[in-house]
Amino acid sequence: MNNMLTLALSKGRIFDETMPLLKAAGIEVLEDPEKSRKLILPTNHANVRVVLVRASDVPTYVQYGGADLGVTGLDTLIEHGTDGLYQPLDLQIAKCRMSVAVRSDFDYAAMVKQGARLKVATKYTTIARDFFATKGVHVDLVKLYGSMELAPLTGLADAIVDLVSTGNTLKANHLVEVERIMDISSRLVVNQAALKMKQADIRRIIDAFSAALPAAK
Ligand code: PRP
Repeated sequence: MNNMLTLALSKGRIFDETMPLLKAAGIEVLEDPEKSRKLILPTNHANVRVVLVRASDVPTYVQYGGADLGVTGLDTLIEHGTDGLYQPLDLQIAKCRMSVAVRSDFDYAAMVKQGARLKVATKYTTIARDFFATKGVHVDLVKLYGSMELAPLTGLADAIVDLVSTGNTLKANHLVEVERIMDISSRLVVNQAALKMKQADIRRIIDAFSAALPAAK
């Protein structure tokens, strides 16, 4: 097992958008995660395998060596923290942004100007806390695990901090984006000990991914 290279991915957009990068590295995953319930997927290389984990668990798997490397959103990475993780590449996939949104009838600018205390619901408490602290806005954070859009509609919060891609989810719920906090994309993360022990194999993957990125073309 010692020369086995394990890559942690989450199902959906990250998995789908990582496949072309793996292909550029000569690696093909032999099973479709949407059709199989397996959590360990073999590849065309006997010593390379993919493990499927929850998106928010990718940094944990890589940090503690359950996987040698993984692909995770910058949002997830910031919330988890980067201890023990080497981050060699911005893969420029699964792009979106982290934003503040409110009900369209809520005057966010006026509230901020008045120095009002805002109630903010989010899954991304670290990003939200840092953002509002830098702005000098006092906030009470309400931690949620999903469906953030519902919070301003039900009176649970004045604002949300959430990922926005097309903006369709906000629009469908009569919310408007009032601040863009940061651009988000997926990152390659590598276990620091694995990088030393399996340097040649990991370096080959980093180089192939890097050569396949839009900026390199
Ligand atoms: C994200 C986010 C929004 C939605 C935004 O959820 O939380 O709900 O996508 O996308 P849009 O701007 O294109 O409408 P996602 O589907 O990733 O699932 P999650 O709620 O589990 O994060």
